[in-house]
Amino acid sequence: MDIKEVIQKRYSCRNYKDTPVTEEKLKSIFEAARLAPSAHNSQSYKFIIVKDKEKQEKLAEAAASQSFIAEAPIIIAGVSLEPEKTMSCQVPTYAADLAIAMEHIALQACSEGVGTCWIGAFSQQEAKKILEIPEECKIAALMPLGYPVDSPRPKYRKNLDDFVCYEKFKI
Ligand SMILES: Cc1cc2nc3c(=O)[nH]c(=O)nc-3n(C[C@H](O)[C@H](O)[C@H](O)COP(=O)(O)O)c2cc1C
Repeated sequence: MDIKEVIQKRYSCRNYKDTPVTEEKLKSIFEAARLAPSAHNSQSYKFIIVKDKEKQEKLAEAAASQSFIAEAPIIIAGVSLEPEKTMSCQVPTYAADLAIAMEHIALQACSEGVGTCWIGAFSQQEAKKILEIPEECKIAALMPLGYPVDSPRPKYRKNLDDFVCYEKFKI
């Protein structure tokens, strides 16, 4: 699959087979995260791979009871080690860095036939407790990962003209 096809095919998978994802495949998926750019190349994050069903169910509970999360053979937590850092442009560094790395994961997984879904609706405190994450760190997102049962739906997106403008901001 070329990059264009991968971007078109990635979708939020909310129904997973329990087929395991091999360590070899996981390695290839996390290699895509390893190669992601980050501000000052700080790579100031950790990815926790959660396979334990009991923990997964607790995480699903902490994620507004989105039970499909625990159906996946794997849940990834993208954790920032320095969530207080801000770039000089006033944007939180961790949010940019982890969004890039986790989208690399989603795209690489898609290219290997593995589904993912970004999860932002979760209790930070509860999820940190379940995964024994130190107080000073912050989870940027959770992401179930596994082979899809469901299929891509049509993508409802704005037209290019609605969000691309030239030379100056235009409503
Ligand atoms: C930062 C972020 C947080 C999200 N949180 C959730 C979530 O908690 N639960 C969920 O089912 N989908 C979640 N999504 C998925 C979006 O709903 C989805 O990306 C969007 O509807 C577009 O659909 P698509 O991913 O299938 O193209 C999230 C997506 C992003 C980027």
